[in-house]
Amino acid sequence: QEIMAPKEILKGKKVLVTAGGTREAIDPVRYLTNRSSGKMGYAMAETAVAMGAQVILVSAPTNLQNPPGVRKIAVESAQEMREAVLDLYDNVDIVIKAAAVADYRPAQEQKQKIKKKDETLSLELVKNPDILAELGRHKKHQCLVGFAAETHNLEKYAKNKVFSKNLDFLVANDVTAPGAGFSVDTNIVTLFDKHGQREDFPIMTKKEVAQEIWKRIAQSWHKQ
Ligand code: CTP
Ligand code: CA
Repeated sequence: QEIMAPKEILKGKKVLVTAGGTREAIDPVRYLTNRSSGKMGYAMAETAVAMGAQVILVSAPTNLQNPPGVRKIAVESAQEMREAVLDLYDNVDIVIKAAAVADYRPAQEQKQKIKKKDETLSLELVKNPDILAELGRHKKHQCLVGFAAETHNLEKYAKNKVFSKNLDFLVANDVTAPGAGFSVDTNIVTLFDKHGQREDFPIMTKKEVAQEIWKRIAQSWHKQ
């Protein structure tokens, strides 16, 4: 029997969740994206509502229903997500950055459809702004939580992201493990905090993962 989300532990808190994989336009009919389903971010948003928070979801496209009680702002690209998030940042207490933001975008968005021509086609890409790192640099009262999907060297990369992006928590998962990662309803995560602590969780549904992460975040305020 599932233990229900402790109600009220996020009462009075304003939460900003980002979710989904950004779309980076190549031309009017094509874009670059990634395998993110948005499920982990939506579970974080839904669970926060159940725990009493006021929740804004900045979402790149997904196939998911908007969770009841959540204010949703739809975005497509990393640049659009950055603008929406920076607008809201001063007014929120916690940011959950579950979105899979494209690291690169096409250097030019062609205004007309690219026509088929030569045997090869190269696409020049430029780096997108790192939204979470920017939030980390301007952090005041906010609690910042990042998500990272890794395929190797999980602990090394995770600890480095906590430090370099000035995070309070990072939820990392090895996407190569069966039952973890994209599209599936379960996940196997490891939580890293700013003190260098590591906690490994067993396989759980994404909703259960969300409950455990929220409990750890709420506990961290009581320890201060
Ligand atoms: N992130 C972001 N903006 C970007 C890239 C990532 O806000 N341009 C955020 C993600 O939403 C996530 C965290 O940073 O919460 C970690 O993302 P990840 O892709 O694991 O880290 P990167 O710094 O992009 O490093 P790499 O992809 O090389 O592992
Ligand atoms: Ca990345």
